[in-house]
Amino acid sequence: MKIMLLNGPNLNMTGTREPGIYGKSGFEEIVEGVKLAATKRGHEITCLQSNSEGQLIDWIQRAYFEHFDGIIVNPGALTHTSYALMDALSSVPVPAVEVHLSNIHARDEFRRKSVTAAACVGQISGFGPLGYVLALDALNALKTVKTRDNDH
Ligand code: DQA
Repeated sequence: MKIMLLNGPNLNMTGTREPGIYGKSGFEEIVEGVKLAATKRGHEITCLQSNSEGQLIDWIQRAYFEHFDGIIVNPGALTHTSYALMDALSSVPVPAVEVHLSNIHARDEFRRKSVTAAACVGQISGFGPLGYVLALDALNALKTVKTRDNDH
């Protein structure tokens, strides 16, 4: 599968930023781990990070125009606020899985609501960097189930 991994604002600071919440592993290390997991599973992965909402929207549209099979997205704080990002995800027929390093449902009240999850197949929250790998497997499983359904 051709997969796009998108990380939003401040995720590049992972490792330095609130390590008690987001862990001590550095962002580059996490991304390298996801790349390795994707390669081992035979996927082609493009890993992108931006602190800008517009850039993330452009990449979501690119996922459609360049025929990606799935998007894994951690929108950071835009999760809780960005209707524009939600619209972008809804605008493309590319399945997306939302990932959060922390369990957003066990944190501040404002983090419990995800605006963007409504435009995703589902959400994985609270598993740390493992969440990105679980998302790879979720996209793959989804594709397998869909293919099987079409066989009938
Ligand atoms: C986050 C959770 C968000 O609430 C927060 O704003 C982030 C990171 C996570 O991965 O746990 O930037 O998306």
